[in-house]
Amino acid sequence: MRVVRTVKQLREALEYMRMGGHTPIGFVPTMGYLHEGHASLLRRAGEMSSTVVMSIFVNPLQFGPNEDFASYPRDEARDLELAEREGADIVFIPGVEEMYPEPTRTTVSVSSLTTQLCGASRPGHFDGVTTVVNKLFNMVQPDYAFFGLKDAQQVAVLRRMVSDLNMNVEIVACPIVREDDGLALSSRNVYLSAEERSQALVLSRSLREVRQAMEEGTVSTADEARELIISVISASPLAVIDYVEVLTFPGLEPLAAGSRLNSAGGEIIIALAVKFGKTRLIDNNVFTPKEVHALV
Ligand code: PAF
Repeated sequence: MRVVRTVKQLREALEYMRMGGHTPIGFVPTMGYLHEGHASLLRRAGEMSSTVVMSIFVNPLQFGPNEDFASYPRDEARDLELAEREGADIVFIPGVEEMYPEPTRTTVSVSSLTTQLCGASRPGHFDGVTTVVNKLFNMVQPDYAFFGLKDAQQVAVLRRMVSDLNMNVEIVACPIVREDDGLALSSRNVYLSAEERSQALVLSRSLREVRQAMEEGTVSTADEARELIISVISASPLAVIDYVEVLTFPGLEPLAAGSRLNSAGGEIIIALAVKFGKTRLIDNNVFTPKEVHALV
């Protein structure tokens, strides 16, 4: 595994792999503090590609002024161990100076898909994501790029960027990885106190309960799904709901008021963001209503 810190070194390392015929190139962009979710992305990349590139860069552009850029958890030595164990061939770890040698005058912005869900509570966040991912794609020129569905809105936004700009890369969305007790893995889980972590299980529990209610036929509309989730989460005293939304996926359009979930035709996302103390957690379930027996 090669660790490179400049764009020049990265391009040289990639040129070497391409010359040796080690293609396709799979790319896993991350902000580090890696966990089993990232490991699953590396493994999927390894299955689909001959060269696996991972980047580790905490991107200042996607953090708001009152967010946790400075305190975002970092552990390069541990990250490199995991990357090596999971088969990364090249790890790119640029500093902020390398990624943004001058204040950036060019940003990439996807409209409409970025104004709801996390985009509403984190203005500018997705412009930071699309701009840095665009830069990273230009540097790596991957055939495939791997992203976790825990950030389902990010997947929808990046797919749209790739399609709108005719970028020659396929976005591969990978399933959410959870702890045994259901908590979706996130680098930010480390911020939770023991009590907050225990109450945070309400996120995955609410998604399981709404799924079960849909299977049993007691929930069949978007409003009923939202109400059930809000009532389950509200039973946790530390939980402060940011949003609970039921939208089409990947279009992120609301369903018509009162309409049945299966009226959407394609996939649906039930997405939530909830704060526990200072930590904001997200979780979601993307599914096709036609696969839920009672909704057919
Ligand atoms: O999902 C993340 O970790 C980040 O948003 C990404 C895609 C690496 C861009 O900084």
